[in-house]
Parts: sequence; structure tokens; C-alpha cells
Amino acid sequence: MSTQRQRVLTGITTTGTPHLGNYVGAIRPAIAASKDDNVDSFLFLADYHALIKCQDPAAVHQSTREIAATWLALGLDPERVTFYRQSDIAEITELTWFLNCLAAKGLMNRAHAYKAAVQDNEAESQDPDFGVTMGLFSYPVLMAADILMFNADRVPVGKDQIQHVEMARDIGQRFNHIYKGQYFTLPKAEVGDDTAVLTGLDGRKMSKSYGNTIPLFETEKKLKKSINKIKTNLLEPGEPKDPNDSNVFEIYKAFATPDQIEDMRQKFAEGIAWGEAKKELFTLVNDELAEARERYNELIEKPTELEAILQAGADRASKTSKPFMAELREAVGIRAFK
Ligand code: TRP
Repeated sequence: MSTQRQRVLTGITTTGTPHLGNYVGAIRPAIAASKDDNVDSFLFLADYHALIKCQDPAAVHQSTREIAATWLALGLDPERVTFYRQSDIAEITELTWFLNCLAAKGLMNRAHAYKAAVQDNEAESQDPDFGVTMGLFSYPVLMAADILMFNADRVPVGKDQIQHVEMARDIGQRFNHIYKGQYFTLPKAEVGDDTAVLTGLDGRKMSKSYGNTIPLFETEKKLKKSINKIKTNLLEPGEPKDPNDSNVFEIYKAFATPDQIEDMRQKFAEGIAWGEAKKELFTLVNDELAEARERYNELIEKPTELEAILQAGADRASKTSKPFMAELREAVGIRAFK
């Protein structure tokens, strides 16, 4: 029975404050999936990845704390899920070096994040590598180490990350080939087909990089304010409104039951006022989040408790990473004289 259990692993880069888009698109589905008995779930705070994008120490630290508290407040069960901080597992950096020594530079040249940075530079007639660090360039290798270290079968990610999981397969396969053994499981990317993507306050995709988000656990008052800021058109109360062309409806849908969605569709057709629709949206979102918000506020005030949970997770993860690393050192010829 347990031989069928699939290892599912994913990482969350610790920059920014979790928002409704993260919740609907990643956190809620991942927590639901972790309750499946056929799944051995690994979830980690990717703080090494954060350093690629953010060199503000206070911000990295704060974001790591907020993200840890968020997942726990929303019901991630650390008894069930191996929940850890990437930087607590020293073997990940060691493995990154092993993999760097066999990952093709040409493969990294094709990585989207690097290519986008080069294209931006070229568009501005800059040196193509202006502002590109080795961290950004070789980031897929670090991600491959995250995944291969724990022999993940499946890696749930957003569409933009599929390429990285494919690179991890490629690199893992290369290691297996060169060192003649089935050391690494070759992971598969998993993109949920109905993963909702929310639109942000300004009409673009809700994303921390656009600064257009609704934070998940801001106070009730602020949540109400944020929801009031969602962009709408100028249609008056009484004028029929198109639900398929409304951010208010889109967010409503992500939180509502099918019946509630139908009711709201009807109200749009009948010309509900924007203020009224936003009020209903607020109530719906707030009802789903209120309890978790309380737990979040408690946890964020108890950093030592959070730390203890993460250390227990690191201990559990180390039970895999330490012996596996010893085996990999042996494989590449780094071993004691005897
Ligand atoms: N790079 C991923 C992101 O930005 C986060 C991440 C880091 C990750 N390591 C991972 C995801 C390993 C899955 C597996 O979203």
C-alpha cells in the first residue's frame, strides 16, 4: 500500500506578503492535496531563491515568517506534511554544486527568467548581461537540487515553472547516466488545470511584482477597503452588468459555491450596484478567511513556536537528505581514504 505513495514536492519563494491570488491559485489547492493519503507531501520555504530577487535582509526575513505562518494558519498540518525551510537543509547547497558541474551552460541559456532579463537589456541597448547575477542565471540548478534531493515524483507549479522542472529531469538524468545508477527519480511537473488566476486591483494579473494585490490577512477593515478599490466600469445601479468582464465577479467565483455563483450572475443581470456587489464579495471572502486570520495573528506573534515547527520539519527532511548526500558523495568520488 505505501509503495504506491507518490512524493509531491513544492517550494514557495519567500518574497512578499501572501495575497488572495496566492491563496486561490496555490495555497488552497496545495493544502487540499496534502490531505490525500496516497501522497507524501513536501513543502518548503525557498529562502535561497528569495536572495536572487531580494537583497533586503529584513524583507527576506519578514516574508519567510509571514509565509510560514500563513500556510500553518490555513491548515497545513506539519505532522502530515514535511514542512521546512530550504536553508536549514545544508545538503541542498552541496547538491547544487554537484549538479552545477554537470548542467550544461547552454541549457541555462534557454531558461525563461534569464532570457527575459537579456531581452529587456537588449531592448534598452544595454550590455545583454547587465544586472544578471549568477544566482539568476543558475537558478534552475538550485531548483533541480530542491527537487532531486528528495526524489520527488510530482512537482505542482505554475505554468512559468514547467521549464524548470523539465530542466531538473534533464539534469537528474544526466547524473544517473554519468555516475551509472538510478540515483534520482525524474520528476514530473504538475499544473492544475483549473488553477484560478486572479486579476489584481489594476486589471493586470494579481502579482506582488505589480503591487496590485489584496493581502490575505490584512485586517477586516483594510480588506474591505482593498475590495472597494477593485476596478469596475462606470455602469450605474440598475444597468445590467457582464459578469464575465468583471474582476469583482471573478474573485467572487473563486470563493463561492455553485449556487452562490448562479445567484450573483442573476444579480449582475439585474443590475446590482457595484458597491453592493463589493459588499457581498467582502462578506464571502471574510467569512472564508476570518478564522485563519485569527490563527495567523497568533502565530506571527510567536516566532519561537514557528521556529520549532520548522526545525522539526528540517529534522524530518534531514533523515532523507543526509544519508542520500553521503551516497551521492560516494558516487562522485568524494570519500574518505581507507
Ligand atoms: N521557483 C519557484 C517559484 O518561483 C519556487 C521553487 C523553488 C520551487 N524551488 C522549487 C517550486 C522546487 C517547486 C519545486 O515559484
